Amino acid sequence: MSIFICGTGSYLPKKILTNDDLSRMVDTNDEWIRTRTGIQERHIAADDEATSDLCYHASIRAIASAQLTAQDIDLILVTTITPDTPFPATACYLQHRLGCRPIPALDINAACSGFPYGLKLALHSLRDDPRCRHVLLVCGDKMSSITDWQDRSTCVLLGDGAGAVVIKREDNPDPNISSSGLKLKIIDILLGSNGSGANSIIMPAGGSRKPISLQTLENREHFFRMKGKEVFKEAVNVMCECAEEILQRNNLNASDIDYLIPHQANIRIIQAVAERLQLSEDRVIVSVQHHGNTSAASIPIALDQAIQKKDICPGQTLLTVAFGAGLTWGSTLLQWS
Ligand code: UT7
Repeated sequence: MSIFICGTGSYLPKKILTNDDLSRMVDTNDEWIRTRTGIQERHIAADDEATSDLCYHASIRAIASAQLTAQDIDLILVTTITPDTPFPATACYLQHRLGCRPIPALDINAACSGFPYGLKLALHSLRDDPRCRHVLLVCGDKMSSITDWQDRSTCVLLGDGAGAVVIKREDNPDPNISSSGLKLKIIDILLGSNGSGANSIIMPAGGSRKPISLQTLENREHFFRMKGKEVFKEAVNVMCECAEEILQRNNLNASDIDYLIPHQANIRIIQAVAERLQLSEDRVIVSVQHHGNTSAASIPIALDQAIQKKDICPGQTLLTVAFGAGLTWGSTLLQWS
């Protein structure tokens, strides 16, 4: 049995918000944002564009790139922290809009670690259920819908977008038939969480702990909040440890990795992780400058763009590493065979 990613797609909304645009909204400037984060611009969804709409466009591209149709999909997983509605699941809106069969569809909340978490569930579903042959995993977030545009410490960081992959199980792959398409084998996935850091990145109100009230609205508690400095340090440490552990348990060294695809939150975090793993700049996929932090979508968008640009080719081994609210983290090892 072989399980691999056979298609990728991504979508970024049309509107671009530059650092200069932001400097007209809050007390910030292009120089601060570039030097502290590496971000130059981010995409912002239209008012009538919800997360499922971003996910839809990424999905149709991923399904087309896998040379499949929506009818071939057996399970939809959407990872998001900005669902269209608290319930039902965004995955159900997507199931309907894509015209899929009445297959299972569910949301996963793992924030910026959505890609490795979703991939793990996809892997188990494909292994355990013989009728499940193709899983659509879509990581999408409309971060602008929970951004406090009066908070300069967070509003400069976030962006909207979606990235999708189709994961396939092949029961009896014939080694003599070489496929010309994408075949990113899932070698290993490592996940973790630490809820003691839950308050470090949080939307404080709008859930059962603090339902919406006039007071929560007045206190602006329906927005993304982050203890930036704490999270920065934790992100670097955990991403390094997670990447080192997955390499070690697969008897690999950083020198065996062709590309690192890290969560795109801040160029300084990416550089610190690459440096500790002793990976040179040219072996790290970076897209944060153009998208900001798109939460769960960041890794699959970067993966899709690197494949489109042919930076990633057959024979290569990829390491992804994510970190986000929860706190959650995860790493995946992928190999284009
Ligand atoms: O996706 C989940 C993972 N997320 C992350 O990994 C993000 C982690 N954190 C970070 O990337 C960084 O901590 C930030 C980019 C959020 C902040 O960078 P920093 O170097 O930690 O800056 P800081 O928060 O220590 O702020 C330094 C100064 C402060 O002024 P004072 O107190 O030194 O006078 C801030 O008020 O910069 C000020 N500042 C700003 N100035 C201009 C904060 N935000 C801005 C801004 N423009 N947008």
